[in-house]
Amino acid sequence: MPAANDLYRSILLLGSEGMLGHAVVDALSRRGHQPNCPTLAQLDICDQAALSAVFDRSRPTLVLNCAAHTNVDLCERESQKADDINGRAVGTIAVLCRSNGAVLLHISTDFVFDGSLRRPYRADDPVNPLSAYGRSKLLGETELKKNAPQHWLIVRTAWLYGRYGTNFPRTIVQAAQAGKPLYVVNDQTGSPTYAPDLAQAILAILDSGARGIWHVTNAGQTTWFDFAKATLAEFGIKAELAPLGSQQWKQMRPNSAIRPAYSVLDIEPFTRQTGHTMRPWPAALADFRQAVQANGF
Ligand SMILES: NC(=O)c1ccc[n+]([C@@H]2O[C@H](COP(=O)([O-])OP(=O)(O)OC[C@H]3O[C@@H](n4cnc5c(N)ncnc54)[C@H](OP(=O)(O)O)[C@@H]3O)[C@@H](O)[C@H]2O)c1
Repeated sequence: MPAANDLYRSILLLGSEGMLGHAVVDALSRRGHQPNCPTLAQLDICDQAALSAVFDRSRPTLVLNCAAHTNVDLCERESQKADDINGRAVGTIAVLCRSNGAVLLHISTDFVFDGSLRRPYRADDPVNPLSAYGRSKLLGETELKKNAPQHWLIVRTAWLYGRYGTNFPRTIVQAAQAGKPLYVVNDQTGSPTYAPDLAQAILAILDSGARGIWHVTNAGQTTWFDFAKATLAEFGIKAELAPLGSQQWKQMRPNSAIRPAYSVLDIEPFTRQTGHTMRPWPAALADFRQAVQANGF
């Protein structure tokens, strides 16, 4: 890994308008870095010529790929598009990083796993995605490794939320404020992850000189139902909230993707590598509430 000065000299951030992208821009700017942030309108990562031109112009030393097709249910119907954005484009980015000597950090997901384990997933546990989204993200991992630049990292995360974009706690708060009854799945377990916390963790893993695949979420685990309950309590909103099984959910929404029943990721290796502790998810949720109350969604 290049020394920090060289590593952060020219940063290309893909997907800067997304939930995580926003948080990464904030984290970098707090350190005085100004990444090059082409918007989707300026750069479609599936456009190889346009990508190549951006590399030629900006000569990045570090590429952070937060761009993705993230609507998990829609990916079932748009699997080709998902494979293009989440899969094949990652291969192209990797090739360009390799030929430019840039470090590549790519974001992946807990949905590469099938959820059959009952202990936190380690980075080298067998993958077996259940959804088109998960398969497309796995394709991205495979394409990256096939075309691997000298220095690459994949950060798998889960249940991401933040102030920008659509996400679970925001949907819960807004539906509750609109007086809608809430039915939330209570048999899927994972780790909610606050985007600004993940952004800090991304910098910590880069600073540590690590390579390869890392799992990073906030600490602790919960179900979607308990996450909804905690969100309502945190925001002080009363709402009609009822638990639902995944099968009932699937019956109500036949076009929805199948999600892993258990997708807690083992973050211990990340903590050991970086010395950076991920705080428990309820503490992060409290910060999220403060940020929303100060600045809105
Ligand atoms: N959200 C989660 O719960 C979660 C969980 C685990 C892992 N992840 C991973 O974390 C990363 C960041 O997710 P996020 O939640 O921040 O996603 P997000 O808010 O949907 O942001 C992704 C960004 O990528 C852009 N994009 C889509 N297609 C593109 C293309 N062809 N070229 C360039 N940009 C494109 C999107 O633009 P548009 O919005 O205009 O399409 C959006 O601004 C992704 O790799 C995702 O797979 C997310």
